[in-house]
Amino acid sequence: MDKLTIRQPDDWHLHVRTGSILKTVIGHTAKQFGRAIIMPNLKPPVTTVAQALLYRQEILAALPRESKFQPLMTLYLTASTSVEEIKKVADAEHVRAFKLYPAGATTNSDAGVADIEAAYPLFAAMEQYGVPLLLHGEVTDAEYDIFDREKLFIDNKLSKLTRQFPALRIVLEHLTTQEAVQFVEAASENIAATITPQHLLYNRNAILAGGIRPHFYCLPILKREHHRQALIKAATSGNPKFFLGTDSAPHLTGLKENSCGCAGCYSAHAALELYAEAFEQVGALDKLEGFASFYGADFYGLPRNCASVTLEKQAWIVPEAYANTDDTITPLRAGESLAWRLVAA
Ligand code: NCD
Ligand code: ZN
Repeated sequence: MDKLTIRQPDDWHLHVRTGSILKTVIGHTAKQFGRAIIMPNLKPPVTTVAQALLYRQEILAALPRESKFQPLMTLYLTASTSVEEIKKVADAEHVRAFKLYPAGATTNSDAGVADIEAAYPLFAAMEQYGVPLLLHGEVTDAEYDIFDREKLFIDNKLSKLTRQFPALRIVLEHLTTQEAVQFVEAASENIAATITPQHLLYNRNAILAGGIRPHFYCLPILKREHHRQALIKAATSGNPKFFLGTDSAPHLTGLKENSCGCAGCYSAHAALELYAEAFEQVGALDKLEGFASFYGADFYGLPRNCASVTLEKQAWIVPEAYANTDDTITPLRAGESLAWRLVAA
């Protein structure tokens, strides 16, 4: 197959930041996707509907002219989130979910939830009002091995949470392990998951073999090959619980190529092309449309997009970096070749 036309996809997990970074990255996403769930981990975090609507205006203003891209906003859950704010989200057209970051789990997560059980009254309200909970599923305590953090979150926190709130709609974000795949498969239809391109294409050797490569460092961290295989199987299975969420997370190159480099892979420049490569590797390009364009919209109760996009087998070299004020953003695959190219949106 050297040409593939599918319904326009959506990105169900995206970081676009603000200011100059937002201006640099938003066109990449808008060129490919109809909508995206926008993560709220700004500094300070987006915690109210009023803040989310202002942030949405900033995103809309940064879009290329005539773009029809729609940002779907989320709020950052904190220990001081009120039930009132949850009701507001339920009624807000442009705010779709709450994101829970365990405190200290990842970039800009200091304001996150330290004690998940203390937030149970908030989950009860989300369950009651039908507001989805998006989870960064990792335990954070320093004694836990970084490669075990997702599995421990599932065993120690998530299993109990889903038992306690069976009607709560949950998206376990950026799956990285076989155990997470199995948990989502066995869970009720209220539990779904996103999968990133980096976790489908790379295992942990990409970060550590032959030198330390900070542009492959993201959280949850890349895992062993058998986990990658499990993710590929889930994404290409046609099971509607698994859908596309890039977790594209731009950082300035200098902050990643650093003695304490920050977490996040930038993939918005070639998101669909990267997924196409992963699906093609296992002969499953026919499963890309469901994963990228149908299942996420269905889970969020939104209509599927009407437009379509076309990918062609046409090799191209990813730029070494994208210019940004005073520094650059280094994309996934920088300076290397990609086999697929988005030719028409
Ligand atoms: C994300 C970021 O940079 O905001 N980083 C990452 O490694 N994924 C935060 C997140 O989603 O965990
Ligand atoms: Zn993220």
